[in-house]
Amino acid sequence: MLRCIQCHFDASVLVKADSGGSDRTCSDPDGVIIHNGSMSKHEGKTTPPMIPLPGYVEYPPQAMLARAREFADDMQRRRSVRDFSSRGVPRGIIEECLRAATAAPSGANQQPWRFVAVSDPAIKRRIRAGAEAEEREFYAHRAPEGWLEAIAPLGTNADKPFLETAPWLVAIFIRRFDRRADGSKVKHYYTDESVGLATGLFLAACQRAGLATLTHTPSPMGFLNEILGRPKDMERPFLLLVVGYPADDARVPDIDRHGVSEVTDWK
Ligand SMILES: Cc1cc2nc3c(=O)[nH]c(=O)nc-3n(C[C@H](O)[C@H](O)[C@H](O)COP(=O)(O)O)c2cc1C
Repeated sequence: MLRCIQCHFDASVLVKADSGGSDRTCSDPDGVIIHNGSMSKHEGKTTPPMIPLPGYVEYPPQAMLARAREFADDMQRRRSVRDFSSRGVPRGIIEECLRAATAAPSGANQQPWRFVAVSDPAIKRRIRAGAEAEEREFYAHRAPEGWLEAIAPLGTNADKPFLETAPWLVAIFIRRFDRRADGSKVKHYYTDESVGLATGLFLAACQRAGLATLTHTPSPMGFLNEILGRPKDMERPFLLLVVGYPADDARVPDIDRHGVSEVTDWK
């Protein structure tokens, strides 16, 4: 079966135009052209270019176990922090954590994540004002009773001083589509899954680096598009991450995590 190299649809069904050689343009089921891929012929079949797997490192099973355990121990120490120190964190560290995030797998390799890393105090102040305005509405009117019950053990309220105190806010956007030079759309697939995975890698990288984080979702988050100048039609705010050092007297809710055996079936 001839598959499109980017969207993985069966191109033999969806081929719209054939440039006569090995170039194929295919379309999604709505008939919108989504890309123009280039393939090479190999033994009579059309295949995309391949390279040897780069950078794979195999460890002996004992070392594997030790590495997995050490990583899990580190991840288990991760907590959502809501009391941040104002101590600065060098931009290079945030950049490396973002580099980890950009290694996430993504649907059709479309990498539909966009990050805005904010350290400018004036922008953080505007983000805090925007978030607190939504949070005040949420806590006073919008939140269903069950939701308020669910978050009661966290002790949160509409005040978000950490949005100004913490040295970094990283806003993550889902890029729903791209545009070609001619203005036509390149639709993105599995965007929520892909950006969720990138976010997880970013949080893990921050934890590895010794940074505290908070995943924050003031709802709705449209104010982030306005403050950060992101196009509303193309990009939807996904999460707002707060990153920095915990305050010396930081406290966290006394809550439990499920163990592996509670959330896993082995077959
Ligand atoms: C999608 C998502 C949204 C969240 N939104 C908020 C939020 O808006 N405010 C907040 O204080 N915590 C928020 N959290 C953090 C959770 O409350 C926290 O992860 C959970 O209570 C477990 O605590 P832990 O992260 O310390 O393990 C969010 C977490 C996730 C995954």
